[in-house]
Amino acid sequence: MTQAPEVIFDDDIVAKAKNLIERYPMSRSALLPMLHLVQSVQGYVSQEGISFCATQLGLTDAEVSAVATFYTMYKRRPCGEHLVSVCTNTLCAALGGDAIYKKLQTHLGSDEEPLGHEETAGTPGEQGSITLEHAECLAACDLAPVLQVNYEYFDNQTPEKAVALVDALRAGKKPGPTRGAPLTDFKGAELQLAGFFPEDEATYNGDVDGPSQAVETLRGAKIAQERGWTAPVANDVPLPEVEKK
Ligand code: FES
Repeated sequence: MTQAPEVIFDDDIVAKAKNLIERYPMSRSALLPMLHLVQSVQGYVSQEGISFCATQLGLTDAEVSAVATFYTMYKRRPCGEHLVSVCTNTLCAALGGDAIYKKLQTHLGSDEEPLGHEETAGTPGEQGSITLEHAECLAACDLAPVLQVNYEYFDNQTPEKAVALVDALRAGKKPGPTRGAPLTDFKGAELQLAGFFPEDEATYNGDVDGPSQAVETLRGAKIAQERGWTAPVANDVPLPEVEKK
């Protein structure tokens, strides 16, 4: 049964939506964070979520839908407590990403019915439920194969490590990512992606502070520094004139 948007999105969420709109010169620019805000409530972008964004921003449902269906971070089906994204792009795939994904498919599903892309083991939203997806390059090729939980990185994975990780998540634990903020859950991560963080500094730091660099990523810069290498100076070239319309 569908619910009216005002039942799902309470006064607090409406206030947050208005806060987002105030951050931009044009209200429609708030659409991307607002879709994350919607996901922080429902764990996906429902039809009611689309109507909520459209009403708040003075857009049509079709305009909001066009954006929500374009980006892979906006989910059209309810997600689990955690979203596990396994990189199966070329480098990760060759170094074990395909094997990790396959292993999680059968571990979270079964040999007979492996879990499919964007399918959930358990009841979406309930504790221990996990949505599995394969992802394109997660921009951590130097640490391949990688996976993310709620968009935080777990580097240098193996099928065994990935199984231990999802088992810990299903048991209600929140293992620390290799890089990134401490784990919350999918809805909590979505609230952060919408741009809302705790106001007091200590809680804020506790929520978002975490290792952000890897030795592998900095190795090239370190060698260049030791050897005194610098990039050639690029002379500024004026931009070509653009024909007036
Ligand atoms: S190929 Fe996996 S992070 Fe780039």
